[in-house]
Amino acid sequence: MNAECVASQADITAEIARLQNSGAAEYRRAGGEEAQPRLDYPPYRSSALRHPKHPPLIVDPEEVERRAPCFGSQDLGPLDADLTAGRPGEPIGERIIVTGRLLDQAGRPVAGQLVEIWQANAAGRYRHQRDQHPAPLDPNFTGAGRCLTGPDGSYRFLTIKPGPYPWRNHDNAWRPAHIHFSVFGTAFTQRLVTQMYFPGDPLFDLDPIFQSILDPAARQRLIARYDHDLTQPEYATGYRWDIVVCGVRRTWTEDDG
Ligand SMILES: [Fe+2]
Repeated sequence: MNAECVASQADITAEIARLQNSGAAEYRRAGGEEAQPRLDYPPYRSSALRHPKHPPLIVDPEEVERRAPCFGSQDLGPLDADLTAGRPGEPIGERIIVTGRLLDQAGRPVAGQLVEIWQANAAGRYRHQRDQHPAPLDPNFTGAGRCLTGPDGSYRFLTIKPGPYPWRNHDNAWRPAHIHFSVFGTAFTQRLVTQMYFPGDPLFDLDPIFQSILDPAARQRLIARYDHDLTQPEYATGYRWDIVVCGVRRTWTEDDG
């Protein structure tokens, strides 16, 4: 563990508060909201390594579209959107239905788009060689799924509610429970990557990734809404979360800049 890893949660929380205060004043002065995350956000230690230091290269969109794959219904299996299926047994945890719509800035549906998700299991463990923290893997849960949006822009997954997990940003750092989302457009250069959170998580205030979005309204847009009408009796609870791909109410994404 290097010196950067030993900040306490209190240190990180104080850094977050300082940036919230100065950042809020800055974006009010600029007359706008700051709805996208700060790419260089010191409380999120590795953000220094995670953002470009040079202006982006301009690529020819036609050239990209000639070479990049595109996805259609023929590429997806019937169980791809059911993360509880495809293994010998049932995964452990709270079954949830996660659904919502992919929308443009005018609220119009964005149809036929590939939506992919990946997530930790109910114990907060990813099935990935870099996740070795001592929580159990679930032999019946891989944590990845995908679907295409329907004509009304809707997507729907059946999965297990992920647990919070530790990470090494600072001492005793924990991420709020979340599901990673990727949305493809018509080419790889249009891919958007974001995270969906669950309402009422006690870790929101402590998490430098969530807090790297300074605008509180933009942070709220990452939190799904519990929807009792979505639940299936004696089977699953339900959450609803829309993704807006452009405009002032655009959902925060990781790959801007
Ligand atoms: Fe994650």
